[in-house]
Amino acid sequence: MAGKIVIFDTTLRDGEQAPGASLSEQEKLEIAGQLVRLGVDVIEAGFPISSPGDFNSVQRIARKVKGATICGLARSLTKDIDAAAAALKPAARQRIHVFLATSKVHMQFKLKKAESEILKIAREAVVYARNFTDDIQFSPEDASRTEPEFLFRVLETVIRAGATTVNIPDTVGYAQPDEFGALIKAITENVPNINKAVIAVHCHNDLGLAVANSLAAIKNGARQVECTINGIGERAGNAAMEEIVLSLLTRKDSFPRITTGIKTKEIYKTSRLVSKLTGFVVAPNKSVVGANAFRHESGIHQDGVLKKRQTYEIIRPEDVGVQAEGMVLGKHSGRHALTERLKRLGFQLSSAQMDKAFKRFKELADKKKEVFEEDLMAIVEEQIKGLPQIWSLDGFEFCGGSSVVPSATVSLKKKNRAYRATSFGDGPVDACYKAIEKVTKLKASLSDYTIQAITSGKDALGEVGLKLMIKKQEISGRAASTDIIEASVKAYLNAVNRYLLQTENRKQVSL
Ligand code: KIV
Ligand code: ZN
Repeated sequence: MAGKIVIFDTTLRDGEQAPGASLSEQEKLEIAGQLVRLGVDVIEAGFPISSPGDFNSVQRIARKVKGATICGLARSLTKDIDAAAAALKPAARQRIHVFLATSKVHMQFKLKKAESEILKIAREAVVYARNFTDDIQFSPEDASRTEPEFLFRVLETVIRAGATTVNIPDTVGYAQPDEFGALIKAITENVPNINKAVIAVHCHNDLGLAVANSLAAIKNGARQVECTINGIGERAGNAAMEEIVLSLLTRKDSFPRITTGIKTKEIYKTSRLVSKLTGFVVAPNKSVVGANAFRHESGIHQDGVLKKRQTYEIIRPEDVGVQAEGMVLGKHSGRHALTERLKRLGFQLSSAQMDKAFKRFKELADKKKEVFEEDLMAIVEEQIKGLPQIWSLDGFEFCGGSSVVPSATVSLKKKNRAYRATSFGDGPVDACYKAIEKVTKLKASLSDYTIQAITSGKDALGEVGLKLMIKKQEISGRAASTDIIEASVKAYLNAVNRYLLQTENRKQVSL
């Protein structure tokens, strides 16, 4: 076994298909930039025909993001391929990803087409796409439930038509690792021209096997894996990139001479960015990037790790960008120390951004004895690189307790004008939200609300993630503060601002 695995990241396409994960163009651009720093080979930036917003974000990424191949998805239809080609045109390296379902159930009930028609459509789509670029990927959708003999014929046909990557999707997450590995092996043995294309796999996690199936595929000849950061994606999600990469690295004995271009030290930062922008909180026990992934609670384990790290740790936290030392700065630390620490965390701030970060750091250090690297990351992500503030928080007061009806007064600012409203509620958070609704005149219902401590200790920053339903659109928001009511209010405003910006962008869009 040997070779470099092409890392194809589909966080911005399949990942964004996860219900409630919608990202603005600016946010997609930010994630794409970070994916390049992480070292991915291909970024699937979106599905250009699916909406004007998707078209524009693929085009912006194609224009601005250098250092990876930019890919756009298309059904096997000329109008889809035209849209993908147009959106990708500015990219230095571009790939069109064409797909068509090949399993009996999809052909019969969804497409209502016979095998011969499918072969013809697939061939013509690839030939057409080759007019725009030489880098064409074809996916027989639901490949793992496709009759193998038919799958082999489809692959042979599309490779003859000019496909340079053939991707084998386990679209519904049905496959088992042994059979999926055997399918990849059978493809290498039964598709006569397979040496002219790279075999890719795209595994979903409906049975929790997406990563295991991807690894089984690599063992049997796949040389591209499609994955997402934190494993987000349709339904139960896609294969998590960080898990695949860390398996390949940690178990080199199982994957001899297999490499990737991923800079693992960027993993944690990328995970946090995707979590923050999608509003999907990472479970504390999530492999590689969860808050507990490197924490040892039991005394026996702590003792073991102190004596020899390898007793209970198979991954070094610093290798994935989680700093080993806990406390970093305090209220006596100066601007230089903060600048140096932020540099080490990979943040290059302008001097104006540094002013803001330092001010926020001092405020936090006054409230908290120990400022951890996670706190610093939260400051930079939220305060510095945050969304433009259409509505910003000017102040709030609340009154509550077991014998009073909770009430809150919230003051907001928009274009330097102050607005204020008071409301009752079921609790202080609810009262604040009702007061905000009065000020912004934007009706929203709360469909999800979570709160977690970013670091340990009673004075830890509390991070609130929430989802609002506004005019039938689910929109996420997130904010952190040592005061959880303030974090709740700011997270709500973050969602409102995100909604307003998206609505504004949609008005400006043209295909
Ligand atoms: O899951 C799937 O089959 C897909 C294809 C478009 C590759 O996402
Ligand atoms: Zn998929």
